[in-house]
Amino acid sequence: MSFRLQPAPPARPNRCQLFGPGSRQALFAKMAASEADVINLDLEDSVAPSDKDTARENVITATHDIDWGRKTLSVRINGLDTPFWYRDVVDLLEKGSDRLDQIMIPKAGCAADIYAVDALVSAIEAAKGRPRRISFEVIIESAAGIAHVEEIAAASPRLQAMSLGAADFAASMGMATTGIGGTQEDYYMLHDGARYWADPWHWAQSAIVAACRTHGILPVDGPFGDISDDEGYRAQARRSATLGMVGKWAIHPRQVALANEIFTPSDAAVAEAREILAAMEEAKSRGEGATVYKGRLVDIASIKQAEGIVRQAEMIAG
Ligand code: COA
Ligand code: MG
Repeated sequence: MSFRLQPAPPARPNRCQLFGPGSRQALFAKMAASEADVINLDLEDSVAPSDKDTARENVITATHDIDWGRKTLSVRINGLDTPFWYRDVVDLLEKGSDRLDQIMIPKAGCAADIYAVDALVSAIEAAKGRPRRISFEVIIESAAGIAHVEEIAAASPRLQAMSLGAADFAASMGMATTGIGGTQEDYYMLHDGARYWADPWHWAQSAIVAACRTHGILPVDGPFGDISDDEGYRAQARRSATLGMVGKWAIHPRQVALANEIFTPSDAAVAEAREILAAMEEAKSRGEGATVYKGRLVDIASIKQAEGIVRQAEMIAG
């Protein structure tokens, strides 16, 4: 380990972030009743420009009137390249209830984007004497965002989570696809005449996970566009979990259970992790730092892997 220890991310479940347009008030109570850990009320790209003011009012009302239980309540503001974002921030903080936990900043391109929102939020919090500090989450969904991902992750102590936004990311990168996440038909290796599909999101996801883990932030996979393809969603979510992400967005309620299923460590995974820890305890009592578990080497690094799984399961259960 470097002299600088890796900070722990916020100890709260973030398996599923359920989105809904701020212009569709009728969905809010259903979102609150869902099993999602995080609710994202959207003021950005699911809201037409002509509806921006109404959506903002709806969302502010919803921070007061709806019982969001123990969920993390987050609002996605408009991008810093629009005329809407400052009003989103000012009205949410001046008129919204203190129940609002988090602001999601879309299309983050550099650390200064986060700094700008932080400065505005800090001034309003001080002026209004808000009792609770608003946290931030960002979406990496542009070439600039992924090129500057590490400085963005370090940009503010308010930052708790970072998501990959596959659709805008693909557009910004000039990727030859209109798909939102998942397998891309033309991204394959050819061997002996057979096609083997690879994962075009892998690099961006890994870069996000590394930046997040360096700075104690939760890495999250964004949307999966084909809401009729549960197995496709599961496969994408499993890849993300394997790479170190802690959760995934749901853009339709049917995706919530899928995300919770994949990002909750299974009973079998937790049992195996506990067995590895027990095997290592035994090894330690014999003065050994490595042993064999089910025919595999386990050593002190295995303790950290196993502890990570047990910790995640206990945090979700608790
Ligand atoms: N949250 C909670 N409930 C939702 C919901 C959501 N995001 N989307 C739909 N529902 C509800 C519907 O109201 C309906 O409820 P009912 O059975 O009580 O009538 C049920 O789930 C089935 O909805 P369905 O008819 O399949 O969907 P729809 O056509 O109403 O809406 C979408 C489909 C994709 C337009 C809608 O889910 C949506 O707006 N998703 C979020 C989009 C978004 O926020 N994008 C930004 C991030 S990428
Ligand atoms: Mg986007």
